[in-house]
Amino acid sequence: MPASHGPRAVPRHVACVMDGNGRWAAQRELPRTSGHRAAETTVIDVVEAARAAGVEWLSLYAFSTENWRRPTAEVDQLMHLVRRVVRKHAPLLHARGIRCRFLGVADPRIPPALTRDFADLTTLTEANRGMTLTVAFDHGGRQDIVAAARSLIREGVPADAVTERSFAAHLPFPDTPDVDLVIRTSGEQRISNFMLWQVAYAEWVFPPVLWPDFRAPHFLDCLHAYRRRERRFGAVRPEPPRGGSTPT
Ligand code: IPE
Ligand code: IPE
Ligand code: MG
Repeated sequence: MPASHGPRAVPRHVACVMDGNGRWAAQRELPRTSGHRAAETTVIDVVEAARAAGVEWLSLYAFSTENWRRPTAEVDQLMHLVRRVVRKHAPLLHARGIRCRFLGVADPRIPPALTRDFADLTTLTEANRGMTLTVAFDHGGRQDIVAAARSLIREGVPADAVTERSFAAHLPFPDTPDVDLVIRTSGEQRISNFMLWQVAYAEWVFPPVLWPDFRAPHFLDCLHAYRRRERRFGAVRPEPPRGGSTPT
């Protein structure tokens, strides 16, 4: 159905599972880390495209709690790369009025210098109101739900007082709106523990293109696909008015 049936033509919150870096490198007989390096251009392209399109919240899945299972050399290189990207693009993100924050980042294996760079970028951009860029790093959706449960129990909230709304208020970054659109590149069709609470009613698209090849036009295609969806949230479409006279 056309956008007129949905609340918004442009999704307010878009979340991307940036997948396919390893396959991109393998196709070129390069080490997997070359794929991660090539992902940088895509990240900047997508941030710019989202901002220009009027997306208010963009979340990027950069490293999952499960990604610690990868070979140490790959994990180390990823940390190094992310650090370089954060430092290099901080001025641009700030100049664009983007508020940046990092969802996750609790594991002691994360190099302290990287944690500091995340904190510095968060502080630098916290007053910005252009678009909120959430980088999910060392993120796990289940972990966030467990953290919310712990927080409620710690505060002594009685069981009967726990509602969806009060539960969500205990999640990390509780101001984050529900995800409207999830884009997972590379053709894989799974959630991989990403923002589980927030994606409850998201629309999903699975472009086959690998993340390092994904560019602004692909992103705009995804927004276009979203516009054609009819979001019903469990309800039914209002019946179109019937022709002819009303029965007596
Ligand atoms: C996504 O690309 C990046 C991270 C998970 C950090 P992958 O590294 O998962 O690429 P594929 O899935 O092996 O192609
Ligand atoms: C999900 O991708 C995590 C990120 C994109 C950061 P993976 O490639 O790690 O997920 P699986 O292993 O295919 O589920
Ligand atoms: Mg993958």
